[in-house]
Amino acid sequence: MTSQVFMRVWICGVSINGPDGSGDSALVATAKFLKPLVFLVSLLPALWWGWQAYLVAMGDFGRLGPDPAKTLALVSGEWSIRMLVLALAVTPLRYFLNIPALWRLRRMIGLYAFFYTLLHFFVFLLLLLQLSWADLGVEIVERPYITVGFLSFLILLALAATSFDAAQRLLGRSWKTLHRLVYIAGVLAILHLVWIVRSDFADALLYGGLVFLLLAYRVLHAKSSVVRQFSPRWASAWRKK
Ligand code: HEM
Repeated sequence: MTSQVFMRVWICGVSINGPDGSGDSALVATAKFLKPLVFLVSLLPALWWGWQAYLVAMGDFGRLGPDPAKTLALVSGEWSIRMLVLALAVTPLRYFLNIPALWRLRRMIGLYAFFYTLLHFFVFLLLLLQLSWADLGVEIVERPYITVGFLSFLILLALAATSFDAAQRLLGRSWKTLHRLVYIAGVLAILHLVWIVRSDFADALLYGGLVFLLLAYRVLHAKSSVVRQFSPRWASAWRKK
């Protein structure tokens, strides 16, 4: 049984709690395998776009289009929202796909959402505002899409700063309440996106729809344990297909 579980872990990346309790070791094995993989894959966009920016700085103009600063603002924004949606999706996916190891990726993916938002903020401050803090204040006050984006960023900053075990112990029960603000960060990020869009609403609809679904799942999950009880059965039926 144990070897079967391990086979599934390594081949499918899926961990299953065996009746002999082998689920625990499978969980550890899956987490050990998944964590570095997810870490590296999540870092790739930053490395790729950082490399492109370096080539532009070295004189290869045109590599990032006619306005490299704007291109970097857009791609860093896109990766921020992708990571944030992924961070919100970790818990529902953990139940629906019955992959307990996903639980152990929550903090890392959440920190990546913050990391990309931080890069996005630096691109804005450094490349678009030439490091002018006065202009940053004006932008935050005068442009609603910057106001909501900045609020979302501040929430992610607070969550990242309190994401460590020591902070969790220190804050006790209020830690969970604080970390539920991630949904507010998601809604503010969607508002930011909707405000920016001028013609093509596809991204706003996609990410807005996903955040709405994930928020709805969170509310349902909090109110009823039915979803939790239903998910593993649904997931195992789905896996057998
Ligand atoms: C620190 C606060 C923030 C600032 C100053 C900021 C600024 C900007 C700017 C200047 C743009 C380009 C707008 C244009 O097309 O002219 C942008 C786009 C974008 N931002 Fe932000 N942003 C912030 C926070 C966030 C956050 C928290 C997220 C998501 C987690 C986010 C996601 C996006 C996305 C998805 C885009 C659009 C990308 C596209 O259209 O392809 N931003 N942001």
